[in-house]
Amino acid sequence: MISIFQCTLLLCLSTLVLSQTDYSQYVNPLIGSEGPIEGLAFGGGDIFVGGALPFGVVKVGIDTYEDNITMSVINGGYTPNGRVTAVSMLHESGTGGAPKYGVIPQMALTDISPPVNLLDNTTYFQSRIGDDTAEVGYFKTQLENGVSIELSGARHSGIMQYTYPPAGEKHVLVDVSHYLPSEGGGNSVQVFLGGEIRLEEDGKQYSGHGTWGGGWNEGAPFTVFFCGEFENPPDQARTFRGRNTDPMIRYHTFSNEPLQQPVFGNNSESSGMLNDRIGALFTWSNSSSGTVKSRVGVSFISVEKACHFKNEEIQSWSLDDTIAAARKEWNRDVFSKIKVSTKPPQNRTNLVLLYSSLYFMHLMPSDRTGENPLWDSGEPSWDDFYTAWDIFRCTTTLYHMIQPAYYEEMIRSLIDIWRFEGYMPDGRSGNYNGLVQGGSDADNILADAYVRGLRGKINWTEGYQAMVKDAEVQPYNTFSLTDPSGSVKEGRGALNDWIPLGYISSDRSTRAVSRSVEYALNDFALAQVAKDLAPEDVQKYLNRSAQWQNIWAHNFTTLNFTGFLAPRLADGTFNLTDYNPALCGECEWSSISYEGTPFEYSFNVPHDMETLIDFMGGPTDFESRLDYIFKPGTSQQDLRENGAGITTIMNIGNEPDFATPYEYHYLNKQAKSVRQTRQLANQYFHDAPYGVPGNSDAGALNSWLIFQMIGFYPVVTQNVFLIGSPWFDDINITVNGNATLRVTANGLDNEAESYYVQSVKINGEACDKNWFEHDQLMNTGGTLEFELGTEAKLWETREVPPSPGHLVL
Ligand SMILES: *[C@@H]1O[C@H](CO)[C@@H](O)[C@H](O)[C@H]1NC(C)=O
Ligand SMILES: *[C@@H]1O[C@H](CO)[C@@H](O)[C@H](O)[C@H]1NC(C)=O
Ligand SMILES: *[C@@H]1O[C@H](CO)[C@@H](O)[C@H](O)[C@H]1NC(C)=O
Ligand SMILES: *[C@@H]1O[C@H](CO)[C@@H](O)[C@H](O)[C@H]1NC(C)=O
Ligand SMILES: *[C@@H]1O[C@H](CO)[C@@H](O)[C@H](O)[C@H]1NC(C)=O
Ligand SMILES: *[C@@H]1O[C@H](CO)[C@@H](O)[C@H](O)[C@H]1NC(C)=O
Ligand SMILES: *[C@@H]1O[C@H](CO)[C@@H](O)[C@H](O)[C@H]1NC(C)=O
Ligand SMILES: *[C@@H]1O[C@H](CO)[C@@H](O)[C@H](O)[C@H]1NC(C)=O
Ligand SMILES: *[C@@H]1O[C@H](CO)[C@@H](O)[C@H](O)[C@H]1NC(C)=O
Ligand SMILES: *[C@@H]1O[C@H](CO)[C@@H](O)[C@H](O)[C@H]1NC(C)=O
Ligand SMILES: *[C@@H]1O[C@H](CO)[C@@H](O)[C@H](O)[C@H]1NC(C)=O
Ligand SMILES: *[C@@H]1O[C@H](CO)[C@@H](O)[C@H](O)[C@H]1NC(C)=O
Repeated sequence: MISIFQCTLLLCLSTLVLSQTDYSQYVNPLIGSEGPIEGLAFGGGDIFVGGALPFGVVKVGIDTYEDNITMSVINGGYTPNGRVTAVSMLHESGTGGAPKYGVIPQMALTDISPPVNLLDNTTYFQSRIGDDTAEVGYFKTQLENGVSIELSGARHSGIMQYTYPPAGEKHVLVDVSHYLPSEGGGNSVQVFLGGEIRLEEDGKQYSGHGTWGGGWNEGAPFTVFFCGEFENPPDQARTFRGRNTDPMIRYHTFSNEPLQQPVFGNNSESSGMLNDRIGALFTWSNSSSGTVKSRVGVSFISVEKACHFKNEEIQSWSLDDTIAAARKEWNRDVFSKIKVSTKPPQNRTNLVLLYSSLYFMHLMPSDRTGENPLWDSGEPSWDDFYTAWDIFRCTTTLYHMIQPAYYEEMIRSLIDIWRFEGYMPDGRSGNYNGLVQGGSDADNILADAYVRGLRGKINWTEGYQAMVKDAEVQPYNTFSLTDPSGSVKEGRGALNDWIPLGYISSDRSTRAVSRSVEYALNDFALAQVAKDLAPEDVQKYLNRSAQWQNIWAHNFTTLNFTGFLAPRLADGTFNLTDYNPALCGECEWSSISYEGTPFEYSFNVPHDMETLIDFMGGPTDFESRLDYIFKPGTSQQDLRENGAGITTIMNIGNEPDFATPYEYHYLNKQAKSVRQTRQLANQYFHDAPYGVPGNSDAGALNSWLIFQMIGFYPVVTQNVFLIGSPWFDDINITVNGNATLRVTANGLDNEAESYYVQSVKINGEACDKNWFEHDQLMNTGGTLEFELGTEAKLWETREVPPSPGHLVL
């Protein structure tokens, strides 16, 4: 339906003369753009589609509106069939919850006569014709009004090229008050709070700022400055203003009057706070050239910086220059970090899955270094963490491996946020912490980085202090409507249960089951870092890391499995009335467990698998319980868009289950981990618009697939990787900046299912454990050699992966 891999003649030629492989041609930027219902984004990846650089600030792409409000998901702006309301500069990628951003827009119009009202995007939004084209650094779509939009992005700026039908009207609308709405309403909608726009040089250039609040993370207001320019001056340019009648959940100060037409002004408009909507309209005469080009820079600091970014980053009016620069940067900084042969007989689908996955895990967070409006510490500044809860499970370990320089800066930024705001974020967007889903999972990220040896300019003394704050200090309750029972902004809102009771009680706290296992891992994370930095704290945090055991109902049986995490009341008794661990109700903030059932969370104790297996009745019972969750038809829970099409308890579409299919390793049955993870990957990940099982979560799902494809998987907060089975016979991974880890596989035949490990060599030495330590391969590189075959073989004979947090309360 949607064509990709088209390229302009110029670009194809310039690609040919590049000496390096152009991996960008294997990226399908539309994987995740659709859900299970054809034509709808619902249940899909919620991805951003458009022009962007790795970890770039600007993600320039179309904003759309989907008619079916109950099924509408416009979080990344793009939807397969939604009507276009604008092209805008800032987006998230892969997020659930309410949309955020979709700001600093332009909209190409060919008719502005009534019933068009520039203040009402439903009077001018446009259906699309034909197929969109999406490539790395390039996007093209054709509107029903005859305008084709092409665009590309640089780090803080974007370039748009509009081709209008000849001899008709040509307008570009800049509605400063535009943003991505939450079509279904709710308490996380965005609001436009005010701004300014000024025209310069008769409308050839325009600049100003806008301020918005709300969005998925219930953010505080943030301001974005902009500086736009057209290649050719318009024949007419006018500003306008009009009453803001948008619903505003927290600030509703306006009556629900019918929308009036805007009032046109001349050269500038300003508004706020909580005042009029403002914008500008640029018009070229019918006889002018059919092509209008524009470049726009954005900054969180000033108009001057926004103009500077525009001028420096996009120096030519040729769209191809920006596209070529983007491809070069993606190839150099991202795709070439994992090299596989691109020559036949290489399976092209697998190339697309690998390089597309790398692409999606580098769209967020955003590197806003130098662009922090809140303080100036000289430290790197990053935003758009969506969220530690999603990315700690494997994404950040992959950053550590292949992007150590960026990753070191991300961690410095997390610590700097603690330094100036009191807590590290779990989620952060629009310069504001929120929303916490489980534990304080930045702790897991820091511990994982620390035990794997990341140092550089990170002040670990302060890093550990930031973790201690999470572990010890109850955050202020901001009484979010999402969950008024404790803070969901940052920190651990249920410490008031966790510390005095030794567990999270189901009568005093929400998410008692899922948060108990998450806080336990968070405290294990502290113990790991404390070993070096505060030995006196180690035992305290190890003790707390075992507190998940306090909500283990040893005698509770369901489906012949005995022993589960279960709700326990503050008085110490378990509440097993009508308890079914395969259900979590809404599975939201107010539920017993968050976005996963207690059945699933009962597998989530990576730091003490030894005790967990014991609690589940020993290796045989543990194995049959693990087998059970992969059986089709076992799911009793309707996870809606979080588990579309998944009928097993095992839900690879959601992060709490990421490591579960690898748990056969702890029984020395690595072949079963290989079989289960392969089947999950083959069943749920595709080179197709519905190619990821649910929200990509800022690339978390995509990074799970990458680890699957390169043949190992991290155990978070430990310096350990579990050995899997690679999908390529030769992989060169650039680790630790400039070392090479070479993964080879002899006997691999994906079609013939010849992917069971027969033997493994690490740095030339036979390996008889199904795991290895980070330092063996990730610091100076090395070799990981697989011998593969069609037979599931018991090849590992030594000790199972470690349980460094082993402690029975
Ligand atoms: C919205 O989509 C759902 C699922 O396809 C469908 O059941 C419902 O009828 C649609 N509603 C409207 C108003 O089209
Ligand atoms: C410009 O084109 C539009 C649409 O074709 C037409 O309605 C309008 O009269 C034209 N205006 C002028 C000044 O030629
Ligand atoms: C149109 O824009 C306003 C914000 O200015 C927003 O509230 C509304 O939901 C938008 N409608 C669509 C269809 O995007
Ligand atoms: C726009 O400029 C014209 C001519 O200078 C002036 O007559 C008019 O009052 C101005 N309108 C506004 C809204 O400032
Ligand atoms: C990996 O690196 C080795 C050593 O430089 C080289 O011989 C091999 O061709 C490379 N393989 C790939 C897929 O790049
Ligand atoms: C490529 O691999 C995919 C699985 O990732 C498989 O479905 C497909 O059949 C393979 N194609 C070829 C040509 O081998
Ligand atoms: C790290 O932070 C600590 C505590 O604030 C401070 O005393 C120390 O000087 C810092 N170290 C460096 C290298 O900046
Ligand atoms: C015990 O669990 C039942 C069923 O989930 C629930 O209705 C009840 O309110 C709980 N009791 C307490 C004291 O929380
Ligand atoms: C850890 O738990 C053990 C056993 O309950 C207890 O004896 C010890 O005092 C605890 N240590 C700390 C530092 O809390
Ligand atoms: C759980 O079962 C064990 C062994 O069957 C028994 O000793 C213990 O008393 C039981 N505990 C409860 C709370 O029923
Ligand atoms: C539970 O185990 C018993 C005895 O092994 C068996 O007969 C029964 O079918 C099992 N029930 C379920 C639900 O698996
Ligand atoms: C390789 O990386 C190390 C560590 O980052 C650095 O010290 C060294 O200078 C680098 N070497 C080259 C050739 O880039």
